[in-house]
Amino acid sequence: MKEKKLELFVTGLLIIAFSLFSCTKDQLDPNNDKNDLSLKAGVLKGTALTPIEQLGKSLYFDKISVPNSMACADCHAPSVGFTGPMAGINIHGAVYRGADAQSFGDRKPPSAAYATFSPILYYDATEGLFIGGNFWDGRATGERLGSPAAEQALGPFLNPVEHNNPDVFTVLKKIEKAKYIDLWEEVWGEPFSTAVEKWMENYDRVGLAIAAYEASPEVNQFSSKFDYYLQGKVQLTGQEAVGLEVFNGKGMCNLCHISEGERPLFTDFTFDNLGTPKNQKNPVYKYNPGFIDYGLGGFLATRDDYSAYAAENMGKHKVPTLRNVGKKPGKGFTKAYMHNGVFKSLKEVVHFYNTRDVEPWPAPEVAENMNTDELGNLGLTEAEENALVAFMETLSDGYVMKK
Ligand code: HEC
Ligand code: HEC
Repeated sequence: MKEKKLELFVTGLLIIAFSLFSCTKDQLDPNNDKNDLSLKAGVLKGTALTPIEQLGKSLYFDKISVPNSMACADCHAPSVGFTGPMAGINIHGAVYRGADAQSFGDRKPPSAAYATFSPILYYDATEGLFIGGNFWDGRATGERLGSPAAEQALGPFLNPVEHNNPDVFTVLKKIEKAKYIDLWEEVWGEPFSTAVEKWMENYDRVGLAIAAYEASPEVNQFSSKFDYYLQGKVQLTGQEAVGLEVFNGKGMCNLCHISEGERPLFTDFTFDNLGTPKNQKNPVYKYNPGFIDYGLGGFLATRDDYSAYAAENMGKHKVPTLRNVGKKPGKGFTKAYMHNGVFKSLKEVVHFYNTRDVEPWPAPEVAENMNTDELGNLGLTEAEENALVAFMETLSDGYVMKK
């Protein structure tokens, strides 16, 4: 399934050539611009968006799929920090069903917020590290459009386990009928067109507009308690302050989740294998019982220029931002953590970092290249674990300052 995804994603030209033969009219539905308002809950009100950001937002919340049931926001909702909004899914496999209801991917949706800060994937020869890209394995490299997020945004529309559109033409035809299409000309200086010679260009423009929304201050709000703390506008509680100290000290968290600077992103955009166990409830095992997620190494193996680095990167996944990790609609709501959603609370994540090598945790999904220097036996007390959790909860956007 992963290969199929990759193929669809990277060979855009082939898809277009193929789609010349596969587009059918009966998959079009004029009612596709109904936005589900509940998905927008959590979006900051009152932020003025530029026309391209507004166009991107409309596309992001539109159900451009076959059938017309799925928007980006269905897997990346503002109310939970732009990740998966369904507690019932998070608690189990944490993998979201695609528009056709039969097809699943095999990873947990990472946050679509703060993703646009990731640089184009590159190899840092001095450090011997890969940095950047989007997706858990970095395969939305950004090399083609100069933006990982823009390239990323074009993947889901055609992915059978996500929006499930058969081809670019189907996507463009749906967008043509939407109310917001009036914005197109304002943004791109010409009316929208589905003419063959415009397919590639206009499809790329869809991705660029979505990336512009994802890069907007509405998505990357920097409005957490921690941001206001950095600006000297609010104090951390005693426990949160201890958590910050442990985060930057004994816990070594900031070695990868960078916390310094005026607007820290809590990631360094590198990749690592923490020895995360399999999520036994991942639906992938139903149709592929031997599935192993090799992350970055799996992707590098598919590239002629990078395949020599594949072995040393097997099992490594993108260091995710920790912004909004604690953001949820209510206390009882469960979120899932790690690339496969195996952990169900921040406390469990922290306890794993603290005790991986000294308590009986399940085996790592990939044993090669596991990081044994920076985690596994941190020697944190229960109180320090709880303080780390309290600190991470200060990273949720939309903090309201008490007067
Ligand atoms: C069915 C659920 C689903 C839908 C619909 C979906 N995504 Fe995703 N998204 C995912 C999953 C799962 C991943 C991780 C995939 C991987 O790493 O292979 C992901 C990854 C991403 C990332 C990468 C973030 C990062 O830091 O690497 C961004 C950005 C993103 N999606 C935005 C979008 C946009 C924009 C759309 C609509 C065009 C969309 N998604 C539709 C599930 C979904
Ligand atoms: C060596 C780099 C590294 C260090 C050090 C590190 N992390 Fe991580 N962190 C990662 C990577 C890589 C992932 C994703 C792993 C995966 O999906 O298997 C991750 C995932 C997470 C997640 C899940 C986020 C999500 O959206 O699923 C949390 C929470 C987290 N880390 C918190 C911490 C805390 C707290 C510390 C310190 C105790 C810490 N990390 C130390 C690299 C690191």
